[in-house]
Amino acid sequence: MEVIIQPTTDKAALLVARLIARRLRAKPALVLGLATGRTMEQVYDYLADMHRRENLDFSLCRTFNLDEYVGLAPNDPHSYRYYMDKHLFSRVNIDKRNTHLPNGAARDLAAECRHYEDLIHDCGGIDLQLLGIGADGHIGFNEPLSALRSRTREKALTPATIRQNSALFRGGEGAVPRRALTMGVGTILDASHVLTLVTGAEKAAILSKAVEGPITSMVTASALQLHPDCRVIVDEAAAKRLRGRAYYRWIFQNEPEWQEFRNR
Ligand code: GLP
Repeated sequence: MEVIIQPTTDKAALLVARLIARRLRAKPALVLGLATGRTMEQVYDYLADMHRRENLDFSLCRTFNLDEYVGLAPNDPHSYRYYMDKHLFSRVNIDKRNTHLPNGAARDLAAECRHYEDLIHDCGGIDLQLLGIGADGHIGFNEPLSALRSRTREKALTPATIRQNSALFRGGEGAVPRRALTMGVGTILDASHVLTLVTGAEKAAILSKAVEGPITSMVTASALQLHPDCRVIVDEAAAKRLRGRAYYRWIFQNEPEWQEFRNR
C-alpha cells in the first residue's frame, strides 16, 4: 500500500483523475471499477474536463460500479445508476452498454449478484478499482463484519451508514433504502490495481484505522492492506491522524514514479 498526501481536497481528486486517465490512455479498453459518494464528484468533474479539453477517450472503456441500493429503479434520482449518468456517463463518450451496476430492482437479487460476478469475470476482471471509504470504514457497502473473502451479494446497511447517506436523499433518513447490493471485499481485492480517495477531517480517524490499524472485518477498508497494488490518495485534513505521515510525504517527494505528478 502507498499513501499519498496532497495539500488540498482539490489536488487529491485531481491526482486520482490523472492516475485514471493515465491508465485509460495506456489501455483504451480498460475495465474500470467505479464508486459513488460526494468524494467522487470532483474526480468525475476532472475526468469530464479531461474528455472535453484533452480528448480523453472513453469509447472502449467498460465500467463496473461497486454497489446499488435495493428497491431503487435505475431512473430513480437517488439510485447510483442515476448518480453515475449525471456525474460521469452523460459527460463523456462512453458507450452506455459498457457501463454496469448491479440492478437493485431485480426480482431475484441473489441471481443478479451471481450474474454481476460473471459479467466482471467475462470482461477479464477489473483493471483499476476506484474506491471511497464510508464513515464506518466500509468499501462498497461492505459493512462491519463483512467477510474479507465475500463476493457480490445483498447487505443490510448500518444505521450509521443510513444516517450518513441520508444527506443525498430528499426524504431524509426514512427515505434511504435499508439494503444494498455490493461487490464483496473479495471481489474488490481481485482488481489488478486499487485507487482509494479519502478526504476531509471527518474521515481522519477511520482512515488511520483502515491504513495503520489491524486488518479486521470491523473496518473492511483495512483489507486493502492485503492488496499488492493499492494507492490511497488523501488530503491534509484526512491525513491528520496518520502516524507515518512523514514517510508517506517522503515517498511522494522522492520516488521516481511520482515525478510527473509533483508540482502540478
Ligand atoms: C457510500 C458508498 C461508498 C462510498 C461512501 C462514502 O456508502 N457505498 O462506496 O465510499 O458512500 O461516501 P462519501 O464520499 O459521500 O463520504
